[in-house]
Order: sequence, then structure tokens, then C-alpha cells
Amino acid sequence: MFDIKPTVADKRQHYAELCEQARGMLAGEPSMIANAANFAALVYHSLPDFNWAGFYLYDGKELVVGPFQGKPACIRIALGRGVCGTAAQTRQTQLVHDVHAFDGHIACDAASASEIVVPLVHADGSLFGVWDVDSPLVGRFDDDDRAGMEALCGVFMETVR
Ligand code: SME
Repeated sequence: MFDIKPTVADKRQHYAELCEQARGMLAGEPSMIANAANFAALVYHSLPDFNWAGFYLYDGKELVVGPFQGKPACIRIALGRGVCGTAAQTRQTQLVHDVHAFDGHIACDAASASEIVVPLVHADGSLFGVWDVDSPLVGRFDDDDRAGMEALCGVFMETVR
């Protein structure tokens, strides 16, 4: 009924609170799979307008889908392919306003219209994988989402280091 658009301060505050929640949820649990699964569920259900949120894990050769929320997804993605493979190869967050305008985008779910992919890198610089969030809305992600998702990924990576 009401279209409540959070202010920038609210959005940053929301991400800060989410980081604290994630930190508390992951603390003391050594299972990477358990933590990744709960992290994906927490983020997916705490922010609006997502149709997929999850991990692709690097197996030493390519990215393989890991714990996620959303519809079944592509299983393996080569480095350099699609948004995920580009984030993994460049080690830079990819913020894609409109996936249909991204050359080489891999359409796992036809509903996806925009996405953000954060590379996950170990302290020694080696690749762990990527964190991928898709939205059915064009332009869903902005620089506050980039900062927020990168901070959340930092909290997650503290648990696998
Ligand atoms: N869209 C991604 C593929 C993974 S799915 O979105 C879950 C890409 O182009 O890398």
C-alpha cells in the first residue's frame, strides 16, 4: 500500500545492523558450509527485492555453486565468464545496473534484472569464491549496497580465515 523508500542513512544503518547480526550468528561455528548457508539466508531475507543470493566457491579451477537462497542455479562458471567469473578474475566488485546490457551475463534465472557480485579473497590473496546477489528490478544496487555487501562479506571471510 505504501511505498516506503529507506533514506540513505537508514540503508547504511540497516547494513551495519546486518553485519552485527551476521557476526553474532557465525561466531564460534567452524563449519564453513553451515556459516555460508546461514549467511545467505540472513541476507536474502533481510533486504527487499532479491530473487537469488548465494556463494560460488572456487575449487582451484572454476567457480562451483555453493549455499544459496533462490531458484536452482548454474553449477559451474569459468573464471572470466559472466558477472561472477569477472568478479573472480578481476577481484573487483561488479555492480551491474542491467544484466541484459552486460556482455556475457549468464542468465540462470530469467527474472534477474540487476546484480552485485563481490569477490571473496583469503588474507594471503588466494581466491575463495564470490558472493552473488540478483534482483528482479533494474538498478536495484547502488554504492551503499556495494559498501554494505562488501562489509558483510568481510564479516563472513573473517570466519574462514
Ligand atoms: N548471473 C550470474 C550467474 C549466476 S546466477 O545469477 C545465480 C553471472 O552472470 O555471473
